[in-house]
Amino acid sequence: MYVCICKGITDKDIQQLVREHGVGSLRELKQHLPIGSQCGTCTKVAQSVIDNTIIDESLFKDVG
Ligand code: FES
Repeated sequence: MYVCICKGITDKDIQQLVREHGVGSLRELKQHLPIGSQCGTCTKVAQSVIDNTIIDESLFKDVG
């Protein structure tokens, strides 16, 4: 799904950066993507995607 319509950024784009590049905050995400740089309405959803991906990752590590 699209998180940022203005810049065409999807939840998968964000998840990949969290998993492969250790992105853990909106500020870090903005170093990789121009998210929130236009209308700014996507920032809350982007933060949720970061948080949920980190939670998923830690659950996965516990199992593995
Ligand atoms: S939806 Fe992301 S800047 Fe507008």
